[in-house]
Amino acid sequence: MFNIQKVFADEIVIENNYIFLADESSSENQAQTNKVFSEKWTKSRERVDTLAEFQKKWYLELYGFNDEKDLSSFLRKKKVIFDAGCGLGYKAAWFAELAPESTVIGMDFSEAANIASQKYNYENLYFCRGDIAHTGMKEGEIDYVSCDQVIHHTENPEETFKHLSSLLASQGEFACYVYKKKALPRELLDDYFRDFSKTLSNEELWELAEQVTELGRRLDSLDCEIDVPEIPALGIKEGRLPIQRFIYWNFMKCFWNNDLGKDISVDTNFDWYSPSNAYRYTKEEFLDFAKKNNLETTFLHEEDACYSGRFLNK
Ligand SMILES: C[S@@+](CC[C@H](N)C(=O)[O-])C[C@H]1O[C@@H](n2cnc3c(N)ncnc32)[C@H](O)[C@@H]1O
Repeated sequence: MFNIQKVFADEIVIENNYIFLADESSSENQAQTNKVFSEKWTKSRERVDTLAEFQKKWYLELYGFNDEKDLSSFLRKKKVIFDAGCGLGYKAAWFAELAPESTVIGMDFSEAANIASQKYNYENLYFCRGDIAHTGMKEGEIDYVSCDQVIHHTENPEETFKHLSSLLASQGEFACYVYKKKALPRELLDDYFRDFSKTLSNEELWELAEQVTELGRRLDSLDCEIDVPEIPALGIKEGRLPIQRFIYWNFMKCFWNNDLGKDISVDTNFDWYSPSNAYRYTKEEFLDFAKKNNLETTFLHEEDACYSGRFLNK
């Protein structure tokens, strides 16, 4: 059996599958980010299975795996797997199922880590509440770091990337996702909100998320498209778009997805507007993270909302 202590620099305390680490942030923005994610995950924990189904399919696309079998054979070659920012832990649990001989550690800075440790009890799976920018892990001990939809919520994503890279063993791999920079009007509104959201209570943030979701739903129900002209100075791209998508990508996030339904759409808007930390990047900035840490880019994926990639420690 794998000795989990080997991964950590200092002596750790474990109870069942839970590793106790320092779990508070001294930074105001990171503390606010942790608070709103604790709120989100506590409220939405019963929807985790619906969320997981959608997210697992998307994970395969984001990181270039053909199917679950392909991911499984990849993971089985990785002895120690770190799900950095694991949220409710369904991906860490998925990795642990797909690679039963590997050891998986899921870390999150919010209450989600405790919730995850209660829900998933596998011999090869551990959870801890802590900062993925300061893990207390030894350098060179991790074979696969998966940091999916998280790094932009940390206090200094470039430093977090550096720390996570340093954990990689030789030939270790790092899968990472960042938010993409969007059109200027949308960036301005989003930046404004990073400051404003700090002044709102959780109730007010949920109310806002409900209202924005309703706007998304109403726009989506319009059977109407627009031929958008190219406006380079504002970062607005030409093309034919449903009106909801036009507003969404260029002016304000108002997520609505008929298949996922109202509750998950509200969760998604809450997730966007509430955390103080939510940085966005260009492709060059993202690839530069890897270059600066001497990692080779082996896979890159791009969507309207994000970049994701796999990076190898040669
Ligand atoms: C959008 S969620 C993604 C969660 C999960 N990776 C998933 O795909 O479902 C972002 C997560 O990052 C966590 N997070 C933010 N900053 C963090 C930090 N410095 N250390 C650990 N987790 C952090 C939040 O608590 C939240 O659970």
